[in-house]
Amino acid sequence: MGNNLMTQLTNVKISLNDFQLRDGIYFPKDYEQLNSTEHKQKWDRIGKTYYGSQKIEQAAETSPIKQDYTLLTGTPGGTWSHFPVNKSVDSILEIGSGYGRIPLHLSKNKNLRCQKYYGLDISEPLLQRLLKCKQEYDFFPGAEFYIICDSAELLPLEDDSIDLVMSNCVFMHIPDAQIRKLFVEIARVLKPGGVFIFNHSFHNKSCPSHQIHNFVRRLNPVKQNAVYLKQYSADEIKVMLTDSGIAAKSPQYTVEPTQEYAILPQKIKGIPVPFATLINRSLKPSASMRETLAYGYSAYSNNI
Ligand SMILES: C[S@@+](CC[C@H](N)C(=O)[O-])C[C@H]1O[C@@H](n2cnc3c(N)ncnc32)[C@H](O)[C@@H]1O
Repeated sequence: MGNNLMTQLTNVKISLNDFQLRDGIYFPKDYEQLNSTEHKQKWDRIGKTYYGSQKIEQAAETSPIKQDYTLLTGTPGGTWSHFPVNKSVDSILEIGSGYGRIPLHLSKNKNLRCQKYYGLDISEPLLQRLLKCKQEYDFFPGAEFYIICDSAELLPLEDDSIDLVMSNCVFMHIPDAQIRKLFVEIARVLKPGGVFIFNHSFHNKSCPSHQIHNFVRRLNPVKQNAVYLKQYSADEIKVMLTDSGIAAKSPQYTVEPTQEYAILPQKIKGIPVPFATLINRSLKPSASMRETLAYGYSAYSNNI
């Protein structure tokens, strides 16, 4: 099935020439159609207040947020905590860049440098804010910026053109069939020997918190929360990396459970579950239970 999908997709390619550049953002020609989708409308709505980042737009010159970018990045953990310092690459593609939290962190705290940064996200408000953050904090100074507002599936980039493909907390929001197509595209654009980092990107199918969500979803299959889509095991993630061709481009990689554990969801149908945060935070699973209780998985090249 992986090979069939690869053959189908290698025949369909798009380029940035098929997009329209408006106020620093590349939009697909069928943007109206994308705008009419529920998924896009949801992320445009969330994007207006995501992570409190809208504060940067209203901030007075004297506001601390103008001086301190960490008010916008927090301290991204997981794979980012062992990202090396002073790395320099030609090109970076970020899937689901949001307002640029991860590139801002990597540029400022890890001194990551690049010549070209491609940031793709479905949410227009978040991408407008990414441009604002770039203006305020000048992350990746001197790099060419290509900011693309589209749903991540076909990538408007050349074969073997990207050194580092990264994504943070995005794939769990994208339906399974689309993820598989996207992975074939990532494999196509990644340079041989290039690096991928998919941090906190997959929900863990054996985590009890997700299983409770799945149970509730089955009670009302018509109205489902798109934030909780399909979950995966480590083996399923490895198969996706292999089938898509990503593993062939970057053969040494790790799939590891996140260090965030959960037995209870924070909310069920929007209603907070009492003490869920407290109970989840108190979990200290033994090594043999970590794969069961981990909230999700990250996958990344070993040659970061
Ligand atoms: C949880 S946020 C993470 C944002 C950013 N990576 C960060 O760590 O701050 C998920 C992001 O995925 C984007 N997203 C969701 N579905 C998408 C899709 N189909 N195509 C592209 N981006 C998508 C959202 O707009 C949002 O920016």
